[in-house]
Amino acid sequence: MAVNDIAQAAAALKAGELVAFPTETVYGLGADAANPVALAKIFAAKGRPADHPLIVHLPAASHLERWAINIPPAAFALASAFWPGPLTLILQRHPAVPDLVTGGQASVGLRVPNHPLALALLREFGSGIAAPSANRFGRISPTTAQHVRDELGEAVAVVLDGGPCAVGIESTILDLTRPERPRILRPGAIGAAELGRALHVAVTERSPGDEHAPRVSGALAAHYAPRTPLQLVAPEHLSAAVRQALAAGERLAVLAMQTTPDAHSGLVWRIASADFSAYAHDLYANLRALDSAACARILVEAPPATAAWRAVNDRLQRAAVGSNNT
Ligand code: TXA
Ligand code: MG
Repeated sequence: MAVNDIAQAAAALKAGELVAFPTETVYGLGADAANPVALAKIFAAKGRPADHPLIVHLPAASHLERWAINIPPAAFALASAFWPGPLTLILQRHPAVPDLVTGGQASVGLRVPNHPLALALLREFGSGIAAPSANRFGRISPTTAQHVRDELGEAVAVVLDGGPCAVGIESTILDLTRPERPRILRPGAIGAAELGRALHVAVTERSPGDEHAPRVSGALAAHYAPRTPLQLVAPEHLSAAVRQALAAGERLAVLAMQTTPDAHSGLVWRIASADFSAYAHDLYANLRALDSAACARILVEAPPATAAWRAVNDRLQRAAVGSNNT
């Protein structure tokens, strides 16, 4: 098949096959969101538990009413402010939405992605495409087509190639099922302050003990994880930690904003940008590269603990927990 043949990709979706496609955040593993047989293939390919809900990608906000009911004005305000873009809205599900999409919950996650290939595919397909990130469950999300082929290969009928994803980390997820109390379930490039300005109400992150909040697999303590154990290290402790490991004969991978203190054959060092957007853009590719460097550990210089870095710190903390569990 020709590279990026949108008509054939849409035909594969209609035939119940899986199509991986780029979005501005990460690559998605797509299936017809109205076809339970196709949806089941997503869970099989990813090794994902069946009760973890999927985001439905829409061609335009005008499709909202086909997937959600009792849509609050806040949802339309956010859709017009941020769509197409890296924001997922959790709304009350339409009764026709399959249980495999919602994980059997009363809500559904919806977004319009901001990528020309994703939008072309959605318009040609003409309906919702359910798509989790196109990685094995719990592992690092893919930000290039090659990452998808490396990890899922045979299971996917078509992989559309849109080059590296512009944002690089997954969408912000906002729970609007209780519209008077909008809650961020997963931080992303669109922050709480920006959402609050658009809604004229304070938007906060879901607190760990909130039992009303819907389940979010991206909110598991362990997620986005490399296979190599990963540790976050404060900037002022990094060079001592590196020297100690090298002195002990350990092979070490480092992701840091500072430059390497020593050139050493046992040391694989990647420089990360001190700018949030550039850091996020490269984060998963950097983690994949360091994970394949055959090192005993990955040390990551902790970014600033500020609101601006919230989404990156969230991913790094879960990667640290996840890598130490496997
Ligand atoms: O940027 C993104 O959101 C990417 C691209 C492909 O769009 N997708 C993505 O999908 O990150 P996934 O499946 O890896 O993460 C989706 C998250 C999961 O944590 C899931 O639990 C949550 O969205 N989610 C989906 N529907 C939900 C619902 N009804 N209630 C609560 N959380 C939901
Ligand atoms: Mg994911």
